Amino acid sequence: MAERTLCIIKPDAVKKNVQGSIIQKILDSGFKMKGMRMAQLSEREAGLFYEIHRERPFYKELVSFMTSGPVVVIALEKENAVADYRTLIGATDPAEAAEGTIRKLFASSKGENAVHGSDSVENGMNEVAFFFRESELA
Ligand code: CMP
Repeated sequence: MAERTLCIIKPDAVKKNVQGSIIQKILDSGFKMKGMRMAQLSEREAGLFYEIHRERPFYKELVSFMTSGPVVVIALEKENAVADYRTLIGATDPAEAAEGTIRKLFASSKGENAVHGSDSVENGMNEVAFFFRESELA
């Protein structure tokens, strides 16, 4: 099976109506969309999803932001998906993101940074499974 990674188009990007442009950039970069849906995350869901950051000072702010409006969750597949998607989205902080990356184009801060990306191959599999049953993936 090709590698998987999870994209979440975050509430800031959905509010700005740039989800179409973000999806087009992902498709143009050779990713296959295996699953996609809109979601309004509950505090419990967002808290669980970002469990690894629970002790970080920004955790509460992160959960509050991620539940502040609808998101788009997308299961992506490609050879080398995790690393290639991270290159495509750019650094967490848009001020440090490379020109042409999704965060450089659409993010406004470290918190409101337009998209989420899985940070390891193992987390890519687990995060896709967090949002999608295997039977929901095309
Ligand atoms: P994401 O790829 O979704 O993974 C964890 C998120 O935590 C990250 O993107 C940022 O949105 C958020 N984050 C990381 N560092 C900070 C910070 N210093 N302040 C606020 N949010 C942060």
